[in-house]
Amino acid sequence: MKRLLISILILAGFSAHSSASLITNAYGRDYRLLNGRWDAIVDLYDQGDRMKVYENRSPEGNTDFYEYALKGGLRLEVPGDWNSQNPELKYYEGTVWYARSFEANPKPGMREILYFGAVSYRCNVYLNGKEIGKHEGGFTPFEIDVTDDLHKGENFLVVEVNNRRTKDAIPALAFDWWNYGGITRDVMLISVPDNYVENYFLRLDKDNHDTIRVDIGMSQPLAGVKVSVEIPSLGKRIEGTTDSSGKFSGSIKSGKLKLWAPEAPVLYDVKINGGEDEVSERIGFRDIRTDGTRILINGKPQFMRCVSFHEEIPQRMGRAFSKADAVMLLNEARDLGVNMIRLAHYPQNEYTVRMAEEMGIVLWQEIPIWQGIDFTDATTRSKAQNMLTEMINRDKNRCAVGFWGVANETKPSAERDDFLMSLLETGRALDTTRLYTAAFDLVEFDKERQLFSMNDPFTENLDVVAVNKYMGWYHPWPLTPAESVWDVTPDKPLIISEFGGEALYGQSGSRDVTSSWSEDYQARLYEDNIRMFDNIPNLAGVSPWILFDFRSPFRFHPTNQEGWNRKGLVSDRGQRKKAWNLMHNYYMKKKQEYEK
Ligand code: GCU
Repeated sequence: MKRLLISILILAGFSAHSSASLITNAYGRDYRLLNGRWDAIVDLYDQGDRMKVYENRSPEGNTDFYEYALKGGLRLEVPGDWNSQNPELKYYEGTVWYARSFEANPKPGMREILYFGAVSYRCNVYLNGKEIGKHEGGFTPFEIDVTDDLHKGENFLVVEVNNRRTKDAIPALAFDWWNYGGITRDVMLISVPDNYVENYFLRLDKDNHDTIRVDIGMSQPLAGVKVSVEIPSLGKRIEGTTDSSGKFSGSIKSGKLKLWAPEAPVLYDVKINGGEDEVSERIGFRDIRTDGTRILINGKPQFMRCVSFHEEIPQRMGRAFSKADAVMLLNEARDLGVNMIRLAHYPQNEYTVRMAEEMGIVLWQEIPIWQGIDFTDATTRSKAQNMLTEMINRDKNRCAVGFWGVANETKPSAERDDFLMSLLETGRALDTTRLYTAAFDLVEFDKERQLFSMNDPFTENLDVVAVNKYMGWYHPWPLTPAESVWDVTPDKPLIISEFGGEALYGQSGSRDVTSSWSEDYQARLYEDNIRMFDNIPNLAGVSPWILFDFRSPFRFHPTNQEGWNRKGLVSDRGQRKKAWNLMHNYYMKKKQEYEK
């Protein structure tokens, strides 16, 4: 009978290392980092598989030899993209083999989980010469239970990373940011009890603000396991036992809670116990919802003073990955006067998310369904659902995350609507405590009605509609800004999720000439757009594109761009442009207006 079961599991593609599970709060566990300088081989023609590089063989007799060695060659920092570490890899798109050895001392009764914060874009993972897992998606974490493959003493880990763009990928063949490749976030080995608190979700009850909803999932489907959640500062605790699937759901009557809000980002120390396992972290409780055309946080109307940034440290010309990187990006955003950041166009690292939460900055996180996605491909759809699930599972306890974005500038079609609807269903099955949105670039000037409108029925499925509109850059003004009135999804909150134009820092020129690429023109463009915002009755927030100049492979102008998208309010070297002051003043005015 057992043999039959095993063969069924193998047939069903079951692997001992299912990547479907994702441990909640990896950084709050008993972990060690496997960061540092790894050995690497650049494999442009994907020959490493044939050569079985992952077996890491070295010659024994007089006649054998190997045309590779995972020692003594190229070294790459992990975490980090390869593009910014080696000039020859600046434009590289292909396979790089990463390898390192590490000592392990697995304890009986414990499980060992290998956890990757992100690998861009796809990878196969080998431990001690055996393939143990794979993952696709450059911006979400994944894990592999390596308990059964880990050796006591030395282990050899190989990760085959590939960042080639493909039609069925997410993002697909062309996107306006650098295609960084590599093991771009932390790598950890996490030790947990055999039956551990695999996931949990704590949040304010949407209808009772003195109640906290609790869901806990143990890693094993065992009934009767003792679980508890304690919030010491409230003197509150709930305990219970798991059901036959290893899950527990309950609620804590918390009494008067100090709710998290941008102006008061209160977080509570929380302890979650399950079986032998204990996890602690800081969690905030808040309610975000819409009411007609308004966005409310804890019942208070908010104007979302937003800005976007890519996960890039421009000065280092590389992907951001560390706490220090998060400090730099978030402080520059805070100085602008924001209460929200759109983490464009993909989930960013946990340091940024957790630090924004401590700072009281609301976050919009999205998966990179960016422009040309193949909505007809069922595999692409399941990839998108998986990415959305991984993003939500990683950050569902992060009260700063207020918005889940499911698309950016997609074109209307039945396939697109069906694809995005499946994402909204996937998201809402996991989390109904956040607002679902998407950014569209379909607002047109209606000559007959002499106003700006949009026709995309899919917007009816969203809580908040977002529009990217580059008046004065990609679109000349059909009227003066003061005459430019909008009538776009008038019954829903509308966020201008992108607007702006390019300027080379330090370049002066005419306020009337777009191609001057001057700070003067960019400033005038901001003046005009800010003036137009007053004519959008359901405007609930704006977000300039973008905080920093960022690298893009299709910004070719030899003097104004040189491979940089110059729409930043801040240059690639951290210098604020004239338009920065206009945006800052506008946000100070809006802050005053809403905090009266
Ligand atoms: C689009 C897109 C951005 C892009 C921007 C631009 O709206 O969403 O990712 O960088 O336009 O053209 O600069």
